[in-house]
Amino acid sequence: MKALEGVKILDFTHVQSGPTCTQLLAWLGADVIKVERPGVGDATRKQLVDKPGADSLYFTMLNHNKRSIELNSKNETGKEVLTRLIKACDVLVENFAPGALDRMGFSWENIQRINPRIIMASVKGFGPGKYENCKVYENVAQCSGGSASTTGFLDGPPMITGAQIGDSGTGLHLALGIVSALFQREKSGRGQRVLAPMQDGVLNLCRVKLRDQQRLSAGPLTEYSQFSSGIEFGDATPRAGNDSGGGHPGRILKCKGWRNDPNAYTYFITQTAVWEKICDVIGEPEWKTREGYATPAERLDKLDDIFNRIEQWTMTKTKFEVMDICNPLDIPVGPIISMKEIMEDEGLRRTGTIVDVDHPERGRYTTVGCPIKLSDSPVDVERSPLLGEHTREILEDVLGYGGEDLARVIESGAVGEIKS
Ligand code: COA
Repeated sequence: MKALEGVKILDFTHVQSGPTCTQLLAWLGADVIKVERPGVGDATRKQLVDKPGADSLYFTMLNHNKRSIELNSKNETGKEVLTRLIKACDVLVENFAPGALDRMGFSWENIQRINPRIIMASVKGFGPGKYENCKVYENVAQCSGGSASTTGFLDGPPMITGAQIGDSGTGLHLALGIVSALFQREKSGRGQRVLAPMQDGVLNLCRVKLRDQQRLSAGPLTEYSQFSSGIEFGDATPRAGNDSGGGHPGRILKCKGWRNDPNAYTYFITQTAVWEKICDVIGEPEWKTREGYATPAERLDKLDDIFNRIEQWTMTKTKFEVMDICNPLDIPVGPIISMKEIMEDEGLRRTGTIVDVDHPERGRYTTVGCPIKLSDSPVDVERSPLLGEHTREILEDVLGYGGEDLARVIESGAVGEIKS
């Protein structure tokens, strides 16, 4: 048995944010039925193609464990099929541009009339207000949610982070909203709307930067290296480079091999509680008691020198040797792990977070499995569906079409070419 067994999801999502959410729900056991435009499908199927003729990794890595039905939701028979899907499902998830569902004739009011128990979950770029009608992509959300203004170095432009906090981050928020709404429905018997705006999702992940915005009015942010470098603060939370977001100074430092390996670096935090152990490890035991070095406040104006000295030590070790030495001493360090190293990581493979999947068009590929582990709901990662692979199965088994009725739907062209 799986955690969400018996839950049917009408997956009207595309690109990344919505598919991330429905993929998680599928891994937790929901039956996810992905509705795609006949002959076209999710745009990502044909984006960043690495194997001509095969679904892209962009698509396959975001749509595991789902079923696919081709359906033109804009013609009459298509609307009839969609209506039956809405009746049959517990949740409709969508991340169309604002107004697209209404233009199809499926406003929230209509959807509720068709199925009062349904939960309708949406990702949009912005919540209600001035920008509610904007189409939004990942990097736009990173800019509007406060992430870009606080990422990068002080003397450089705002930066986008590699983690897809706008799309995948908002997909995660939406998934939590959906399971909460399902839980509430157990008691209320009613469905509800769930909205996860990307701006809000990014801001939620940038919470500590809004914290710093308010701390600024009480004086400079002493844990930022900008303070130890003597550079004045402006009126907004500045870009903090690689400074640690907590109260303990941290930096990225070079390790052995850095000249040839762009990832031969470690994160290193001068955690107050282990300052004495740090002094011993780097060969500066007298710093433990020397005036100007013994307390965190005294060290603030010397952080550049202190980290330079620590780096002289880290440069004599590989990033993994630094980890092996510091970990037992509770000194927080983090080797910079490349995607290549992650693909080869035995530990991540053992836990199912990195998995290999077979695909009929593209062969074997590596993907990220479910990052959430439930002891009673194990996850088997299954390949993404081909476009319309399950159209007949869904029409017959989920919606009960058969005989002449099924033939009528197929002949109408609303469901594309039937493949099986
Ligand atoms: N049958 C018929 N029409 C379909 C269909 C189907 N199965 N599936 C989609 N369509 C139509 C939509 O109804 C829409 O038509 P309309 O413009 O006439 O109303 C059209 O396809 C395009 O949909 P849209 O969502 O506008 O796609 P887009 O490529 O223009 O925009 C986004 C893409 C991502 C910018 C936009 O969907 C968006 O802003 N989404 C919300 C925020 C979001 O999730 N962004 C991140 C994506 S990772």
